[in-house]
This record gives sequence, structure tokens and C-alpha cells, in this order.
Amino acid sequence: LQNFPKERNWVSGFLYFCQGFWVADLSIRSQVSFSQNFVARDNDLVLASCPKSGTTWLKALAYSIVNRSRFALSNANNPLLKLNPHDLVPYVDMDLYSRYRPIYFENIPEPRLLCTHTPFESLPPSFKSSNCKIVYICRNPMDTFVSLWHFVSKFESETELAPIQECFDKFCRGVHLFGPFWDHILGYWKANLETPHKVLFIKYEDVKNDVVFYIKRIAEFLGFPFSEEEERRGLIEEIAEVCSFEKMKNLKVNIDGKHHSGKPNKNLFRKGEVGDWKNYFTPSMIERMEKLIHEKFKNSNLVFNFSP
Ligand code: A3P
Repeated sequence: LQNFPKERNWVSGFLYFCQGFWVADLSIRSQVSFSQNFVARDNDLVLASCPKSGTTWLKALAYSIVNRSRFALSNANNPLLKLNPHDLVPYVDMDLYSRYRPIYFENIPEPRLLCTHTPFESLPPSFKSSNCKIVYICRNPMDTFVSLWHFVSKFESETELAPIQECFDKFCRGVHLFGPFWDHILGYWKANLETPHKVLFIKYEDVKNDVVFYIKRIAEFLGFPFSEEEERRGLIEEIAEVCSFEKMKNLKVNIDGKHHSGKPNKNLFRKGEVGDWKNYFTPSMIERMEKLIHEKFKNSNLVFNFSP
């Protein structure tokens, strides 16, 4: 670890700048091992995101899409109603040698549904050379910051939030879990433009706006399209309902259950809205973030949605 630049995390512990992005001290061993050892397969289905962009939701949607023929979605036997999505779709980077949950990815039945927060450029080469497919979800940076600030604060205290200005300053300098966010987003954005058959790029705000459309889109992309008969039966709407924020937040496992890292599942479900940043951003924060977004994204055609 001495070889990597480090900064204090937003709460306790340190972040290390390793392979071009910031990694938490707890997951660095797993992260390095992932980059060196993991081999993606042609039929792997990979979900990717910068933290707090809607990963939990995407995991629930993709899990339901891929496994829909194995169980009735609203039946109590649906694993999604008993387990948190993070326990069903593992992080290939953070879980590989996690002190909480080492995963033997070799043993997962195919097609493997996996997730990563690793930036595109830092994925092991087999992700690019194999035919695996990647769905990336992105969220506007202001809501991502507010979500991350709440989430990280809860590592320390259930009731008190970390000082927002300090956290915001770090976020704007790119010092946050898997940051800088602009490199993260632009890496997958570019990969989507260059190889659209390999990388699907979706936005949290768009999925909120028309979840049925995106369930169909993700299903087609992953190679699990809905038949006319399934559409007639209302299966897509059923997936939308089972994976909705209200439904998931109110499942027993997400009210009083714990995530495999020992953290309460309830912290993964906060507000689930677009535009909550308006309740926290001061005019100077808005100015700084708008400048940053302009500077970092001006050469791409990527546009964020900041309001519902
Ligand atoms: P907020 O903190 O703004 O509420 P991630 O899953 O990547 O950690 O992202 C967390 C964000 O997604 C949180 O945002 C959380 O509330 C929201 N979220 C979780 N499940 C969701 C769902 N089923 N539908 C919509 N948003 C969801």
C-alpha cells in the first residue's frame, strides 16, 4: 500500500489511488487480485456503475430478466424477495477476495451475472477481448454525490451526516470510491460509442422515467428478449413492480437484514428520486459542480438529467 497515493476517506479509513482510481483500504487486496487474475467468459453478463448510481436496482432488474423462467416473480420463492440484490449478483472486484465474502466465481452457473464498480479502462483485458456484455448505469453527478454522502456517512453513524462541504470538495477533486466520477462515466460512455454491441449505457433518470422500456432494452441487449406471449402476460410490468423502490425497500430482508459486509440493507434504499440534490446544494456548490461538469464532459455528447 505504501506505493499508492492515499487520502483520508470521507469518514474513517483511507482511499488509495491504485490503477487510475480511488479504492477503499478494505477492498484493495480484492481489487488488485481481480485485475491480475480474473478471466471473463464469452457468456458473462456484467453490470457496471459508479457507486450510488442505481446499481442495486439494476441488479434486481437484470436478475429478474435473466432468471424469469426459473420462478414466478411474485411467488414467495423468488430469491429476490428473500435476499438483497447484492447477495444475488456479486461484485466481481470487491467480493473476489473480500474478507467478508470470498466468492468462487468459477463455480457460479452460466451465464454468470456479475457486477463491477471498476472503471472500463482498468478492467482486466479479458473483459474487452471476450464477448461478455456490459450494462453500465450512470446517474447525474449531483444526485450521485448526495446519495454517496448519505451512504458513506452511515458507515460511521446512523444519525449524523459527515460534513457536506468537506465531502463535496473531495468529490469534486475526484477523491471518492471508484472516482473520479467523470473518468468512470466517460470510460463506459466511450466504450458504448465504440462497441455498442458490447456496452449498453443507460441513465438512472431515464429508467425512472420509463422502466418498462428499459427492462425490454436490457433484456434484448443481454440476449433474453421477451416473447410476445410474455409481453401479453404483463411480465415486464411485473418485473418493474417487483423491483420498484417501494417494493424493495419494504421487503423484510431490506428492513432489518444485513448485507454480506455486515452493513444494514436499509441503507441501500434511501429516497430513490431524481433531483434530491436541490435540497442540499448551496449556490456555490451548484456553481462549482456546473463548471466541473462543463469542463469534463464538454467534448462528449453526454447530457445529464437533473430533474424528474
Ligand atoms: P438515493 O440515495 O438518492 O435514494 P446504488 O444501488 O448504486 O448504491 O445506488 C443507490 C441509490 O439508488 C439510492 O439513491 C437508492 O435509494 C436508489 N435505489 C435503490 N433501489 C432502487 C430502486 N429499486 N428503484 C429506484 N432507486 C433505487
